[in-house]
Amino acid sequence: MDDVEPLLDRLGRPLETLRVSVTDRCNFRCVYCMPKEVFGRDYAFLERRELLTFEEIARVVSVFASLGVRTVRITGGEPLVRRNVEHLVALLHEIPGLELALTTNGSLLPQKAEALARAGLDRVTVSLDSVDDATFRALNDVDFPVQRVLDGIDAAEAAGLRVKVNAVVKRGANDDGLVALAERFRGTGHVLRFIEYMDVGHTNGWRLDDVVSSEEIVQTIDDAWPLEPLEPARPDETARRWRYRDGAGEIGVIASVTQPFCGGCSRARLSAEGRLHTCLFATKGHDLRGPLRLGASDEELAGLLRGIWGGRTDRYSELRSAATADLPRVEMSYLGG
Ligand SMILES: C[S@@+](CC[C@H](N)C(=O)[O-])C[C@H]1O[C@@H](n2cnc3c(N)ncnc32)[C@H](O)[C@@H]1O
Ligand code: SF4
Repeated sequence: MDDVEPLLDRLGRPLETLRVSVTDRCNFRCVYCMPKEVFGRDYAFLERRELLTFEEIARVVSVFASLGVRTVRITGGEPLVRRNVEHLVALLHEIPGLELALTTNGSLLPQKAEALARAGLDRVTVSLDSVDDATFRALNDVDFPVQRVLDGIDAAEAAGLRVKVNAVVKRGANDDGLVALAERFRGTGHVLRFIEYMDVGHTNGWRLDDVVSSEEIVQTIDDAWPLEPLEPARPDETARRWRYRDGAGEIGVIASVTQPFCGGCSRARLSAEGRLHTCLFATKGHDLRGPLRLGASDEELAGLLRGIWGGRTDRYSELRSAATADLPRVEMSYLGG
């Protein structure tokens, strides 16, 4: 499968990674993602019949793989709240040549890590914004204790999964705990990556003042333990990497706001209801569920995907300006980051 001709978009970017959201629901209400006032009791989540089945997802992924996709990341909402998600992992594991990753809030990892690893998952990214229990409970806004997520990370490691940790930094919310977070993961082999708070969706009340720049984050960690920059491992890498000079590992910073990186973006995103988005900030997805349920052949689906990717010009983050600020956007919990 390595001799697949790369499928390029209008800006010459190959299609390499697919992020698959398996649910728009979540057991957390992180203040920067699903604020309670909006995602409360009456929020119109997708109905079960609207979701792609695991078999439908596996079918779409196999067509993507035939077009050059090499990494599939399962996300959400919270992917581990979708029942039996390890069955999806097992179906995807049957498709040759794919690396399988999953992004999770870690809350259900203590009970799920082993089944996921057994089904063929290669790695997990656990979102954890603070190691201070009170701060963490306030950020997830469902009073979930940090220790259970730390136990989830240990369970993932014990199951043989490679682990990364993602921390969104929001000024005034968790920016006083960056050194403590870094300290927790120094020397563990788990790479910690800090993410600038992004203006996704319309519900989190995002303000530029709440963004802590990656430059400031790196400076804070460098003051505690001197850092040196690392070369990117891949041209489409989202994180800029730094290593501790004392050899205790590396950190990454994802500067999606202050230094956008659309240039090498090779990611497509599939929503839980089967809409294909060619950018996290693309307002409209392309419906794949319709053709799938109407019996489209693999060739027809591949033709559709070629057309969508081949026409792609998105570089929202680089164009971000007054002109784009008021355009409608989809929520992070819908597309999964
Ligand atoms: C939407 S979540 C879905 C997967 C899973 N529930 C989790 O939290 O890892 C994916 C990633 O998006 C990040 N995220 C959500 N809202 C964000 C925002 N406004 N800015 C930056 N990252 C955000 C989360 O921290 C998480 O790492
Ligand atoms: S970031 Fe993840 S865990 Fe937090 S509310 Fe969004 S989907 Fe849920």
